[in-house]
Amino acid sequence: TLPSLGLYGLGTMGSALALNILDNGYGLHVANRTTSRVPEFVGEAGALAENLTGHESLVAMARAMPAPRAIILMVPAGGAVDSGIAELLEVLGDGDVIIDAGNADFNDTRRRTDEVESSGVAFLGMGVSGGEEGARHGPSIMAGGTESVWAGLREVIEAISAKFEGAPCADRFGPDGAGHFVKTVHNGIEYADMELIAEVYGLMRYGLGKAPAEIGKVFGAWNDGPLKSYLVEISAEVLGAVDRISGGPAVDAIVDRAGQKGTGRWTVIEALRMGQSASAIEAAVAARSWSAEKEVREAGAEILGFGREPLELDAADLEAALLAGRIVAYAQGFRILDAASDEFGWSLDFARIAEVWRAGCIIRSALLDGIAGAFRGDLPMGQLIFAPAFAGMLREAVPAMRRVVAASVAAGHPVPALAAALAFLESMALARGTTDLIQGQRDFFGRHGFDRVDGGAGRHGPWWD
Ligand code: 6PG
Repeated sequence: TLPSLGLYGLGTMGSALALNILDNGYGLHVANRTTSRVPEFVGEAGALAENLTGHESLVAMARAMPAPRAIILMVPAGGAVDSGIAELLEVLGDGDVIIDAGNADFNDTRRRTDEVESSGVAFLGMGVSGGEEGARHGPSIMAGGTESVWAGLREVIEAISAKFEGAPCADRFGPDGAGHFVKTVHNGIEYADMELIAEVYGLMRYGLGKAPAEIGKVFGAWNDGPLKSYLVEISAEVLGAVDRISGGPAVDAIVDRAGQKGTGRWTVIEALRMGQSASAIEAAVAARSWSAEKEVREAGAEILGFGREPLELDAADLEAALLAGRIVAYAQGFRILDAASDEFGWSLDFARIAEVWRAGCIIRSALLDGIAGAFRGDLPMGQLIFAPAFAGMLREAVPAMRRVVAASVAAGHPVPALAAALAFLESMALARGTTDLIQGQRDFFGRHGFDRVDGGAGRHGPWWD
């Protein structure tokens, strides 16, 4: 039997998810921190309000709901989740579930799972992607929790999720923090992909001298090819839009100072902590951070003023470079997932993750079906970039990517994510790199020892003889 369903937090995402649940024929209890939002939301629900019950507070809602209860918290990640949990634990008991549907740090989700479950209440950490539109009509859902909690909620979660060729884009990927970790890495990939697109926009705009609307058309055309994706599609729309006040390009009315709520940074922090490097994602986080220093950059333009030269680049090269960059963003994301799966014993199913990302979420793209296929097929060393289909695409795209990065660097256009992605590909395609010298240096100053090419570990150089 399905538990009775409650949702706390009627902000943009919470309201949209609530309407989605009602739309799918489920009854729903709702509450909100600011109580006046509840009757307002009931009004917005229109005909869907028939199965909707509003409550004065989270606790009042939990008390009024018949057991077993499943209560979705859709509140900002952090303290608000902890306070919601603390209140709920006063009321809930065996058989009830608390679902955190926000963008939680998976470390918090692991801690909360222990805390909540030690009191007999179950906990599900549920990453939800797709923005307002996704939440309303079908998001991609990445859950972490016990199999039995998932089994009890699966029907509802699959019903409200996006569908790819009829298959629900929702799954449980492992216990406790697994779902929120997968969502965090999703966002890391999102950051990298957005930055790569923005860099290519910059090259067309400031290097090729194209107007935003023209660039929007280029993205629009690319969206019919291998770059087909939600992010390229919306970039075309953003660039094509006209500002209501100035009548000029909408993008020109936007201050170039990027916000970030933490998921991209967490992806990089976790990657580094696990001895991984997600260089394209890191470059994207860095680019947002630098962008936030608007005043410093304005001073830099005056004081340093290196200047930017025009570029000559083929659109086809830019398209190929963006495609290769995107493949790296996904590949680095999956490498982090792999490391976390090992560390936490999650046995993540990478093919399923790619499948769940095929619809509903922000990083949905034409590549994901192939990525799922690659993880189900012959994948040398477990590396996505070595899967036959992707290796083929990369061998074709890297020469173009080299031309783009080289020309951009020579003409003074910063392309941190493209350059990082290219450096990763080049490094992974060299059997012998330059860390022989690093090892020599380490041994020289600290007797750290090195492996010899002719066998033997922990050896020292002649500088110690
Ligand atoms: C999604 C988005 C969503 C949200 C992020 C963006 O998958 O639907 O990722 O979760 O837009 O919070 O994060 P920033 O505010 O850090 O860009």
